[in-house]
Formats: sequence, C-alpha cells, structure tokens
Amino acid sequence: MPTAVDYGDRIPNNVGLSEDRRLQRALESWQPKFIDWWRDLGPVAFKDNEVFLRTAVSVGQDGWANYDFVRLPEYRWGIFLAEPDADRTIAFGEHMGKPAWQDVPGEYRPDLRNLIVIQGDTEPASVEQQRHLGVTSPSLYDLRSLFQVNVEEGRHLWAMVYLLHAHFGREGRDEADGLLERHAGSIDRPRILETFNTDTSDWLSMFMFAYFTDRDGKFQLSALRESAFDPLSRTASFMLREEAYHMSVGSTGVERIVQRTAELMRTHDTDDIRPNGGIDLATIQKFLNLYASISFDLFGGDRSTNAANYYTAGLKGRFREETRDDDHQLTDATITMDEPRDGELAEVEVPMLVALNRVLQDDYVDDCAKGVRRWNKILASHGVDVELRLPHRGFNREVGVFAGHHISPDGELMTEDDWTARAKDWLPTTDDRDYVNSLMVGVHELGKMAGWIAPPRVGVAGKPIDFEYVRL
Ligand SMILES: [Fe+2]
Ligand SMILES: [Fe+2]
Repeated sequence: MPTAVDYGDRIPNNVGLSEDRRLQRALESWQPKFIDWWRDLGPVAFKDNEVFLRTAVSVGQDGWANYDFVRLPEYRWGIFLAEPDADRTIAFGEHMGKPAWQDVPGEYRPDLRNLIVIQGDTEPASVEQQRHLGVTSPSLYDLRSLFQVNVEEGRHLWAMVYLLHAHFGREGRDEADGLLERHAGSIDRPRILETFNTDTSDWLSMFMFAYFTDRDGKFQLSALRESAFDPLSRTASFMLREEAYHMSVGSTGVERIVQRTAELMRTHDTDDIRPNGGIDLATIQKFLNLYASISFDLFGGDRSTNAANYYTAGLKGRFREETRDDDHQLTDATITMDEPRDGELAEVEVPMLVALNRVLQDDYVDDCAKGVRRWNKILASHGVDVELRLPHRGFNREVGVFAGHHISPDGELMTEDDWTARAKDWLPTTDDRDYVNSLMVGVHELGKMAGWIAPPRVGVAGKPIDFEYVRL
C-alpha cells in the first residue's frame, strides 16, 4: 500500500512525524529558517504568482505527482521516503547479506554525516545559483520548469535535513543549520563543492547545468540508494524520481536550442547565425565543454581511500550495485584508467576499491553520451555535418589526477602556453557570454517563445504548450 502523505501536519511527511514529538519540534524550529532562506535566496521574480507545479501526495508508483496551481512560498515542502522493504539486506561490502540498518552504527556516524551534508549542500546551492533566471526565461513553459526544479531541490534539502535531525542528534541539527548558512558564491561561507559556487546566469548554462550537473546528482544518489543505512537509501530513491525530471529539463532544453540553431543554419546557409539571433554551434560546444568538465569534478578524487572505505563499510555503493556480476567486495578487482604520467596520458591498472569514484564517473560518462547522440541526430536531420562532442575527461579539471594538467577536449596533453593560446576556442569567452546574455530577454507572454530556442514538443501533464503555466 502506498503511504499517503500527511498534509494535515505543518510539515507534510510520510515518516510518522506526529508520533515523534521531539523530532517534530526540532524540524518545526528549522522550518522558519528554511522559509527565510527561500525568501532571501530563492527565486527573485514571480514570487507571488501562481505556478502550475507538481506536488507529491503519496510515494506510491503514481500518486507522487499531483499538478495544481500554487504560489512558490506556499509550496508544501515535506519529508518523503520511498516505501520500506522490510526484508532489505546489504548488497555489498563487509556487512553484505546482513539486514539493512535502520539506525546509524556509531563507528560510521562521522562518515555518513559527511556524505549526507555534502549531498545536502548541493540542493539549496543550485536554487541560489538559478535565482535570477526567472526574469529572463524564454517562455512561460520554461519559467514553470525552472520553478519546478527549484521547489524540488528545496525538498531534497528537506530530505537531507530530516536524516540529519532524525539520526545525528545535536551535531546533525548544527549541520542542518549550516546548509542554510553557506551560500553559492559567498566569499566567507561558500558551498562545499566548487561547482556549486558558480553563477548560472543564462539559460544555455541552465540547461547544461540541468543536463550535466543534475546528472551527477543522479549518480551520487544512485550510489547512496545502495547504502546499508536504509533511511538514506529510501530518501535517495524518492529523490531520484524527481532528478529524472531535472535531467529532462536539461536534455530537452539543449535539444530545443540545437533544433533552433540547425533551423537557422539551414535557412541562412551559414554557421554564423549570431546575426540571426541564434546560438551558434561553436558556442553551444563551449558551454557543453564547461559544464561537462565542472561536473566531472564532482566525482572527487580518481584515487580515493575514502571511496574504498565507504564501499567496504556499506555506506555508498556503485551505480546499480545489485545488477553487477561480481563478489561485491572488490578486494581483488582492478580497473584500467588513464592518468597523466611523465608528460603523457598513460593507461594504469589500479585496485577497483580505490578507483570507485572513477567507476561511478565511467557510468556517468556513458549516460551523458546518450543525450549528445540525440542532439547530433537533430543536427544530422537538418543536414548539418558538425557534431557536438563530450570533452575528454581530463579537460579543464580542478579535481583528481588531471588537475594541474592541461588537456585538450580531444585528450591531448599540452603545455601551459599552448593551452592558454587555445582555451578561447574551447571554453566560453567574455564575448561568448556577452552574446548569450544579450539574448536573455524574458518572454512571458502567453504562447510566445524566445527566438533562440525551439518550442518543446509537448506541454506539461497533458496541457498544451501555450498553456498559462504561470499566472501573471
Ligand atoms: Fe536535488
Ligand atoms: Fe536536481
């Protein structure tokens, strides 16, 4: 039986909050801080307009997405965990085969808390990064998409805060406060991961972010869904359903830009479509390079004893751990990976346990490639013989074995001088950003769409594309 979400409570939840008065009081004292944070650092525009949003009403297969008009500050953020499986056992590591944990074992407390805080920190960060985008949305349809992603990231924050409050005592409550005290781009208290301190100031960046950076979220959450700590596993499961939508906003957003670009290239028979108000392919490729590379950084060190320890302890697994045909201990397994050695990229064999961040990143790269193939099909169908490409994993990296090296999008190791001379061809320049920003003029009239992006193929929840998704 799907569990209904109790909307009678101040904090909608399916975790029986009203039966745990201490926890309820603790979360109710955090709630006003969250609301203040949303007001101060959430979306700057359309704060009081009604938006056609989905809200979870139960966590069963279908009941979790209920569409209605709601004003953003009145969105019912709450705590939803996927249905429990009473017989769930641990699928990997040294506790494999034993029942999943309902409480945090003392010895793993610091590590689990860290994992939850790092994940939790990204959720409000992206809302902060995207806060100005409503002003320049290319249509009401896109404005709605932005707000849907934003409110769900808000709930992902709630999900992590619930775990911290329910299972980590005083320290957990302090960490929950910290999630609202660090801010994207703040000099004094920045977000933990550098990728979440950049500003998503235009919609090309927004769609690339949703495609590449939210997809990192999918892979981190998939690894946490395997966790022996069952409440974390169930929380991650529920978040993943929403993450799928965020990635589709990115994937279809880039697709629509590519579509419009290809149409303009064909109509005007030129690659240089800036005079026609389009985003040229070279610029799209540069933004793709940027967002892919800063998202590769989110996987952490390519060699990591932390990753090995998390796996052995059962805290964080691999993507789709259970479908893998091995011993789920990995004590003897190895993988080959490329890394810079003596001035070139060399294939080295490393124990899989210490390379688990790279293993997760491998699955991520495969997943990223699918969208790029779809975008290229659109180009091909318009007779455009240029393809978009994922950059080499070592390109533009700040974290891991490639950091400090200069590697081209094709995977060529270069000198610093060569790199400096070429970087403007590979990453957005000030001029590129100025051009993209010049296109960012909000289009908020019913049924209208900005000229640099094609309309979506379908509307939301059976509504037409020109539906009034945000009531002005
Ligand atoms: Fe999220
Ligand atoms: Fe997301």
